[in-house]
Amino acid sequence: MARIPQSFIDELISRVDIVEVIDKRVPLKKQGREFMACCPFHNEKTPSFSVSPVKQFFHCFGCGAHGTALGFLMDYEHLDFLEAVRQLASMVGMEVPLEAGKTRADYAPLYGMLDQAARIYREALKHAPAAIDYLKGRGLTGEIAAEFAIGFAPAGWDTLLKALGSGEVERQMLATAGLVIRKDDGRYYDRFRERIMFPIRDSRGRIIAFGGRVIGQDEPKYLNSPETPLFHKGHELYGLYEARQALRDIPRLLVVEGYMDVVALQQHGVRYAVATLGTATTSDHLKKLFRISPEVVFCFDGDRAGRAAARRALENALPETHEGRQIRFLFLPDGEDPDTLVRKEGKQAFEARLGTQAMELSNFLFKDLLDHVDTRDRAGRARLAEVIAPYLARMPGGPYRQMVEEEATKLAGVPIRIPANGRPLSMLIQDSPKRKAVAIGRPGSQRRLAGPVRKAIALLLNRPGLAALAGETPVLEGLSLGGMEVLQALLEFARAHPHITGAGLLEHWRDTETGSYLMKLAQAELVTPADAMESEFRAVMADLQGRRPAEQRLAQIMQASRERILDESEKAELARLLKARSGSRSDPRS
Ligand code: UTP
Ligand code: MN
Repeated sequence: MARIPQSFIDELISRVDIVEVIDKRVPLKKQGREFMACCPFHNEKTPSFSVSPVKQFFHCFGCGAHGTALGFLMDYEHLDFLEAVRQLASMVGMEVPLEAGKTRADYAPLYGMLDQAARIYREALKHAPAAIDYLKGRGLTGEIAAEFAIGFAPAGWDTLLKALGSGEVERQMLATAGLVIRKDDGRYYDRFRERIMFPIRDSRGRIIAFGGRVIGQDEPKYLNSPETPLFHKGHELYGLYEARQALRDIPRLLVVEGYMDVVALQQHGVRYAVATLGTATTSDHLKKLFRISPEVVFCFDGDRAGRAAARRALENALPETHEGRQIRFLFLPDGEDPDTLVRKEGKQAFEARLGTQAMELSNFLFKDLLDHVDTRDRAGRARLAEVIAPYLARMPGGPYRQMVEEEATKLAGVPIRIPANGRPLSMLIQDSPKRKAVAIGRPGSQRRLAGPVRKAIALLLNRPGLAALAGETPVLEGLSLGGMEVLQALLEFARAHPHITGAGLLEHWRDTETGSYLMKLAQAELVTPADAMESEFRAVMADLQGRRPAEQRLAQIMQASRERILDESEKAELARLLKARSGSRSDPRS
């Protein structure tokens, strides 16, 4: 994903026709508004695989498989994301931007440029006492700074331009390398100014990008190189090259969040620390790490943001839970990060935490789920069985998954039904009761689409152009219904992209929490006939508008209830408001 600009994916999805893509591989028959076939993802005799030309989406009522043209290619042809994008692009005659007809060799001179830039930054650091003081103040030694080739980009707009940009060709190369920025009027300026510079090296030690930190408090705190032909954030890990230089054998890798965390840890002897570059850990990252070491420990802050980041890492890690690998999670005490902690307590104490406090992946998974689901009653246990199923589906088969499944079965008290296709996308909606795909039944059976938010989103997925009708009304402010933010985002995006299809929306949010929520709603069958969509959408939006006063009142009483004991009339009102709200079942994430 990181390799290709999102705008390209948006454009690609808008040009491709899913019916054509699938029909070539699985012959389709028209049936009403949809196309049908026997499902290629499970064994069946009567067709329950349907393809919607309007939504540009497929869905199997039998096994629950679903997705866009891109998802179909990935599943059917076993392609990874990039390969599927390439195939689709070639079908419609589009060129995937980064390739642009160039081979890797054409980019070779960029390495030289980046290397020279690093030298210039290092030299500049020697003459920048404020930067040196800052690094010293953060406890770095000269040795570690040299090892990581830390430098300084001086103030001014043309440090690199003057040194390396003698002609237009050179200046363009600097721009391609992400070191300078080209303005609309054709002039260039340095990207990094007045920042401590951390060079990012690839596995062969070549510098491919930089991260730059302000000295002090400015925003943004860190500025990173953009995606370039040499640098793909989703693949690279800061500190990995340095770790491999320092250690012959790496029995364990520690994944942290920041540049300074890596440098501080490595300086204090925890040489196996690496960091992702301001992104979630991808499965590409993990594949890379497991090629080097059998154990990966993720280290996160103990706060809510840390928990959320850990959850994302967990989700991406599930497909990588193969035999012989170990994945663990370590949460640090509030207010600490690895940098502060290792400086405070040193290598031994820090490593002791790894030994005693790091949770094995399945323990973290259970802990996280059990924090959300109460298994003391039957409904809760049933719920657990449902929410854990997609996690299991993401794991490769084998003894490890079997053990997790057994434990889940024990906790839930019922066998877990794991979805047949291994790529469920709805797992991130932790708090939603997920309907079993099989329960959806025969083609034509309707999934309930109760509640205005879900209805509005489903309508938009069918016809994104409806967003224009929502006009400028800042409708939704003050509404705390679940899914509200998603609806907002959808409206904004669809308004800005008048030609986008439902599939385009789904792909825009691929692999995000929003995306999995949308995927779910995209599977819902919309009963609204085409010519009534517009009026229905207007009605739903009006309904939402009408709820604002009630929602605000509800928030008010809830707040009051936290501060004091409610009187009888307030209690009655609260009950009424809650009932009205749940009656509409508008919140799929409840
Ligand atoms: P943190 O904000 O946790 O910073 O960002 P840190 O690493 O502890 O930084 P120090 O200790 O204040 O120097 C963690 C990582 O997220 C990315 C960087 O990779 C950073 O190291 N990040 C953060 C950015 O890319 N941009 C930002 O503005 C902030
Ligand atoms: Mn820090």
